[in-house]
Amino acid sequence: MKTAIITGITGQDGAYLAKNLLMRRYKVIGARRRNTGQQNWRLKYLGIENEIEFVDFDLTEPYSAENIIDRYQPEEFYNLGAQSFVALSFNQPHVTTQANANGVLHLLEAIRQKSPHTKFYQASTSEMFGRVRETPQNEMTAFHPRSPYGVAKAYAHYMTINYRESYDMFACCGILFNHESPLRGSEFVTQKIVKGLVNWVHTKQPVYLGNLDAKRDWGHAEDYVEAMRLILQQDKPDDFVISTGVTHTVRDFIEKCLKCLNVEYVQHKHEFSTPNGIPIIKTAPEFFRPAEVDVLLGDCSKAKEILQWKPKYNLDALVKDMIKTEISEI
Ligand code: NAP
Ligand code: GDD
Repeated sequence: MKTAIITGITGQDGAYLAKNLLMRRYKVIGARRRNTGQQNWRLKYLGIENEIEFVDFDLTEPYSAENIIDRYQPEEFYNLGAQSFVALSFNQPHVTTQANANGVLHLLEAIRQKSPHTKFYQASTSEMFGRVRETPQNEMTAFHPRSPYGVAKAYAHYMTINYRESYDMFACCGILFNHESPLRGSEFVTQKIVKGLVNWVHTKQPVYLGNLDAKRDWGHAEDYVEAMRLILQQDKPDDFVISTGVTHTVRDFIEKCLKCLNVEYVQHKHEFSTPNGIPIIKTAPEFFRPAEVDVLLGDCSKAKEILQWKPKYNLDALVKDMIKTEISEI
C-alpha cells in the first residue's frame, strides 16, 4: 500500500484527488490547517471523510512540513494547498507569498533532508503565463504573471525545478489551466455564475460580475486530478501542461448556463437581461482586477503523448454537471 500526503485536502482538487487515490488503495494523509468552520464538506460530499487520516499542517510553518514528512516518509506528496484566489492576492500579497512561494520551499527542503525518496507534485498554474507571450501556451512558453498569486506560483515552480536539478529529487510541476466542478469554491467565476443564476430563477436578483470578456480554458477537476496522479507515475520527473485546448469567454459561460436553465435573454455591452428588461447579469467595479489575464489557452500535447491523458469533460458537460448539482442542492 502506497502512502500519499495531500496538502489542500479540504479544497476542490484535494477532495477529488483523495477519492482517486483511495480507489487505488492508497493510504491518504490529509494535511490541513486548523479551522473553526465546516472545513470537510467536500470530503463528506464525496463520502470519503472517514477514510482519510488527518494531520495538522500549515504551509506557512516550516516545522509543520518537516514534522509530517519525517513522520510518514510518504511515497508521494501532492502539494495542492495554496491561497488560490487570484483576486484576493492583490489585497493579501504577503499571505499569498508566504503560503504559495515560501511554503513550497519549506516542503522541498523537508523532503530533501528527511525523505529524499518521496515523489513531489507541485500545483503550478496557467496564471503564470499571465500576459501571454504566445497562444496556445505550452511547457516552453515564457511566464509573465499578472498577480501576486501568479508571481508566487512562478517562484514555487522554478524552485521545484531547481530542487529536481540540484538534488536529483523526483519533483514535478503540473501547469494546470482552470478546472471547475460542483465542488468549486463559490468565489470563482464559474461557480459564482452557476449559483447566482440558479438563485436568479427563484428570486430575480441579478448577479454582479467583473470582466465578461476574459477567456479561460476550463476543464473538469475530476479529469485534472487524474493527470496529477499520472505525473508522479512516470519513470522520470517532468513538468506538464494540463488543459482542454479550447478557450471561452466568461460571457460564453453565462450563455451556456442560461441555455441549460431555459432562460431567454438578450445581451447588452455590460449586462444580460430578459427580453422584457429584467436584469440577469450586471457588472460592478469591485469585481474587476488591477491587472487582468485576458486569455488562456493550453496546449497539452505533451501530456497526451507521454501521460496518455486526455480530458473526458468538455465545457458543455461541465456546465451541465455544475447546474444539475446546484439545482439538486436547493
Ligand atoms: P481550493 O479549493 O481553494 O483549495 C485550497 C486548499 O489550500 C484548501 O484546502 C485550503 O485550506 C488550503 N490552504 C490554504 N492556505 C493554506 C495554508 N496556509 N496552509 C495549508 N493549507 C492551506 O483550490 P483548488 O482549486 O483545489 O486548487 C488546488 C491547487 O491547485 C492550488 O494550489 C491552486 O493554486 C492550484 N491550481 C488550481 C487551479 C484551478 O483552476 N482550480 C488551476 C491551477 C492551479 P482551508 O480549507 O483551510 O482554506
Ligand atoms: N472570481 C471572479 N468573480 N472572476 C470574475 C468575475 C467575478 O465576479 N467577473 C469576471 N471574472 C473573471 C476574472 O477577472 C478572470 O478573468 C476570470 O473571470 C476567471 O476568474 P476566476 O474564476 O477567479 O479564476 P482565475 O482564472 O482568476 O484563477 C483560477 O484559475 C487559475 C488557473 O488559471 C484559480 O483557480 C487559480 O487558483 C488558478 O491558478
